[in-house]
Amino acid sequence: MSSAKTLKASRILGVGSYVPPRVWTNDDISKMMDTSDEWIRQRTGIEQRHWAGPGVDTTDLALVAAERALENAKVKKEDLDAIVFATLSPDHDFPGGGCFLQAKLGVPGIAAFDVRQQCTGFLYGLSVADQFIKTGMFKRVLVVGAEIHSRGMDRTPEGRDVAVLFGDGAGAVVVGDCDGMPAEKDSQIYSTHLHADGAFAKELWVAAPGSAMGADFRITHETLDRREQFPQMNGKTVFVHAVKRMPEALMEALNANGKKLEDVDLFLFHQANLRINEMVGKQLGIPPEKIFNTIQKFANTTAATIPIGMDEAVKAGKLKKGMLVASAAFGSGFTWASALFRY
Ligand code: UT7
Repeated sequence: MSSAKTLKASRILGVGSYVPPRVWTNDDISKMMDTSDEWIRQRTGIEQRHWAGPGVDTTDLALVAAERALENAKVKKEDLDAIVFATLSPDHDFPGGGCFLQAKLGVPGIAAFDVRQQCTGFLYGLSVADQFIKTGMFKRVLVVGAEIHSRGMDRTPEGRDVAVLFGDGAGAVVVGDCDGMPAEKDSQIYSTHLHADGAFAKELWVAAPGSAMGADFRITHETLDRREQFPQMNGKTVFVHAVKRMPEALMEALNANGKKLEDVDLFLFHQANLRINEMVGKQLGIPPEKIFNTIQKFANTTAATIPIGMDEAVKAGKLKKGMLVASAAFGSGFTWASALFRY
């Protein structure tokens, strides 16, 4: 740790991801709930998702993603200063997943904490890491997004609009300093932009357990009977806000840095619905081949989505060092965010 003297830039040093091996196709899902491949594919673009098997926790997925990111970054775990863990499906109610991951990774003593911003969690976490590095407080920060959704979904007809959308997985990046201001073409995070509007909190939420859920208990038989431990979503409202807020956040990031849409090499969007990303692309006139989508394979993995997409894009040869990347996400809260960085 060092004191904050000069403003520094941060950059992504490496990326890694991990999804559990078991694939569930839309046809597999149709055997357990009242839905169909045709409905899921047409409405969302999802073809399959990965769901974790028994005995695997969210931080187990995160651990593999973190180790891969460290290896990719050529950073030793002992050189990390902090873990920022983004999840809405932690191993336990408290402490946060960051603490459990820190123990599994074997890096006692360093800062470890959770970011609870759902689908925007990774970009919020990236922003936190960026600020820590810019102020000089930390030099190497692990930012992880990880989720196990498959154990928290309502598979009855009332919950099927949500249950078919989500997959399990983890993605991680190692964010480091640039040792002084880098040249224009060097990798760096230019800026991050964070927003929320809590007036819409109940449009996509899980009510229980929670301290507002009963006089003495955070969860009761009545809340369980009302299935309030499962996500509730007003899908159409979420959709309408997502296609408005994502372009806004993207343009905010570009304008803040004097860049144009044409300057961007790759767009890494959150993956909630292929139709959302297509509409965002159409609104802004982005060539479809510049938008890297992974929802077909992984469904929506919430906080893990963007780092999984980043890792997949690297593996597919679509994302190379020096490329300009614009990323945007929208989700529960409502929250929305963007980041502009040179990979
Ligand atoms: O990352 C978190 C952010 N989440 C999002 O961004 C999600 C945004 N919203 C959406 O992606 C869409 O609203 C959904 C994909 C969730 C739903 O699509 P929709 O076109 O808005 O469908 P709908 O909710 O209006 O439902 C249309 C019909 C209904 O039947 P009726 O009333 O028309 O007879 C639903 O009961 O589809 C039915 N339905 C299903 N049918 C088969 C809902 N879910 C399913 C299902 N399988 N899984």
